[in-house]
Amino acid sequence: MFQHVDAYPGDPILTLNEDFQKDPRTNKINLSIGIYFDDLGRLPVMAAVREAESAMLSSIGPKPYQPMTGAINYCEAVQHLLFGADSEALRSGRIATLQTLGGSGALKVGADFLKRYFPDSQVWVSDPTWDNHRAIFEGAGFVVNTYPYYDAERGGLNFAAMLDAIKALPRHSVVLLHACCHNPTGVDLSAAQWAELIPVLREGGLLPYLDIAYQGFGDGIVEDTHAIRALADADVPFFVANSFSKSFSLYGERVGGLSVVCPDKDQAGRVFGQLMFAVRRNYSSPPTHGGQIVARVLRTPALYKLWSDELAGMCERIQAMRRRLHDGLVQRVPGRDFSYFLTQRGMFSYTGLSAEQADVLREQHGVYVLRSGRMCVAGLNNGNVDRVAEALAAVL
Ligand code: LMR
Repeated sequence: MFQHVDAYPGDPILTLNEDFQKDPRTNKINLSIGIYFDDLGRLPVMAAVREAESAMLSSIGPKPYQPMTGAINYCEAVQHLLFGADSEALRSGRIATLQTLGGSGALKVGADFLKRYFPDSQVWVSDPTWDNHRAIFEGAGFVVNTYPYYDAERGGLNFAAMLDAIKALPRHSVVLLHACCHNPTGVDLSAAQWAELIPVLREGGLLPYLDIAYQGFGDGIVEDTHAIRALADADVPFFVANSFSKSFSLYGERVGGLSVVCPDKDQAGRVFGQLMFAVRRNYSSPPTHGGQIVARVLRTPALYKLWSDELAGMCERIQAMRRRLHDGLVQRVPGRDFSYFLTQRGMFSYTGLSAEQADVLREQHGVYVLRSGRMCVAGLNNGNVDRVAEALAAVL
């Protein structure tokens, strides 16, 4: 019956992370998956999450189904976090927001909706992008293409080529953009570059689809929403998929959201209804627990402060590790430019390692990075950074 089923070659991120778990070496170092570990290499339970969850456990109640679009208090909290409580788009009721199964669930629900209402559109993602972007949109039936993004020579952004490619797209093309902390390169657009790109998106009748999975790991919680707020102010209809996996260290709870900014309230109502239908046809409704942790933290000023301070501390630790790795490499490999470790933002750096070099790093040194050369710098700590510098210097 199933002889025609192809063997699954595995996922470039999740399967590598599983291989890491199985690796018996005690000195192995995991810089593959986008997960923040603390300086002792542990997955943190954030203090605000612990407090919120403890309060929830003291009032255990019945567990009905949630609405298809999730909890209203959660969706409102997401809207305030992404768009600002005083956003014009929010006040005029033209943003449809729902709770989803992480950022991936948001991308998929939005992709299904888009395929239904824009069946002839194609999707354009940055070259490179998060591996799963292509998989999700192709899984929804789209043809997925790339626009130029990363400048390997400089370890920066090839903005002119990106803009030219986007200018040439047919109307209603879906353009996937990273709001901050680009995955996998850590290279973002500046505010001035967003200001140049946004009119191109609007005048071209394009459909921007923003992904924000690393809010707070770039310039700050509010600062990282710059692109989202600028697009909303520019009257461009667009999609935003957001995730709290990293910023709340709630990976396994699958807490995310999808927001669609529409031209007016009536259209937002129709879009909301059809997104609801897309949810019903995929998984009926999202789970309760993780969303209520996040809602409680975001809506309780003391918990919000605790959370934002801790997130800022995580960010500072990543910066310090970027600096230590940079200095360690400059010392070991003189004459080579490693400044990209300092300029790239968020959890990732694009090392320029080839797939073969990544294999040697993993097999001979026990250091796991993706075969694309992406390194999760949030897995570095004071106990392993010198070993990573040593191993990198050996394979470069
Ligand atoms: C990553 O990029 O490593 C994370 O977003 C985890 C994932 O699901 O791929």
